[in-house]
Amino acid sequence: MTEMQAQESVYLDHAATTPLRPQALEAMLPYLKEHYGNPSAVYALGRTVRAQLDACRDRMAAILRCQPGELYFTSGGTEAINLALHGYARAHRDQGRHLLVSAIEHHAVLHAAKALADEGFEVEEIPVDRYGRVHVDEVAGRLRKDTLLVAVMHANNEIGTIQPIAELGKLCQDHRVALHVDAVQTAGHLSLMDLDHAAFISISAHKFGGPKGVGALVARRGRRLLPILYGGGQERELRAGTENVPCIVGMTVALESAHAELAGEESRLRRLAQDLRNRLSRIPGTVFNSRPELCLPHIVNVCFEEISGESLLYLLDRAGIAAASGSACSAGSTLVSHVLLAMGLPRTLAAGALRLSLGYSSTEEDIARLMPVLQACVERLRR
Ligand SMILES: Cc1ncc(COP(=O)(O)O)c(C=O)c1O
Repeated sequence: MTEMQAQESVYLDHAATTPLRPQALEAMLPYLKEHYGNPSAVYALGRTVRAQLDACRDRMAAILRCQPGELYFTSGGTEAINLALHGYARAHRDQGRHLLVSAIEHHAVLHAAKALADEGFEVEEIPVDRYGRVHVDEVAGRLRKDTLLVAVMHANNEIGTIQPIAELGKLCQDHRVALHVDAVQTAGHLSLMDLDHAAFISISAHKFGGPKGVGALVARRGRRLLPILYGGGQERELRAGTENVPCIVGMTVALESAHAELAGEESRLRRLAQDLRNRLSRIPGTVFNSRPELCLPHIVNVCFEEISGESLLYLLDRAGIAAASGSACSAGSTLVSHVLLAMGLPRTLAAGALRLSLGYSSTEEDIARLMPVLQACVERLRR
């Protein structure tokens, strides 16, 4: 892409990934250059890096409302999720076999659960309503004596719907069942207060302006996990492998920046998203897939009747606009979103989905630039 094209492009796919925050990059550079020591080394070069790693753990724990000893650094959201689900299920195999997983989880959860089903665990899906919301009584009615774990995400990556996690946390605590919350789309975007009763929380840095390939798992004290990687004794014997210190530093600074801006950004993005919804509603045959009051401030998901989302993405891309049709991992494939199907949308309508996701770098100008192009693309595809 030339510089000219880069300037003209409009990025509306922050739920897939976000640009690296400049403060995060600045903070990372010394750990890519002079502070390159292995944090497990005993000499000064290693000790400096170890001190920074410990400080990052303390700073992140304060924002994630956990003890530093409950935080484990991983290679991203996918690894954190796999560690929680596989590590917990395998460690408690003798106590139960039943796992409850919401139908609209990210594939990191769904496919990790499927692998557990292949090992002999029983995985049951929790249904959702038309707006992708899990109802607490649907979970309560499915809990059994042998239920080990419930997995419900904080907010969905495609439609943005926020789940009643505080109530689910209490329900699970009362029944002594572990709750895993995929907070990949909410850390740095929403208050995490509702997650205080969750046994496990997974997050990923690249969704809040941090680098890719780094994330973390919060595992509450007393929740025994088996490792899923074998090697050195890093991360208190739970996650082998030399810690990715530059990225952990970048993640910490990005989370602090996002957290500091949270209140202001939430209302700014809600205003931008509402403006976007108002303009989208003027395109005939537009169906909204989430209700703003139930939704993350920065995600707007619609279906356009009688068109293919994939073709729309292609035309938008040619006009320099980056958006998504389904989840990031299925972008580029012709799969219809499992989230929209679970919400009861007909396959033909779900095939016309468009996700527009805003971020800290989004402006009114982005929406003003998007709308005439989008309208023209929809009209062209319907012709
Ligand atoms: C809700 C959700 N969970 C998990 C993941 C996976 O995170 P990572 O890309 O860090 O592996 C993503 C990324 O798209 C996501 O949106």
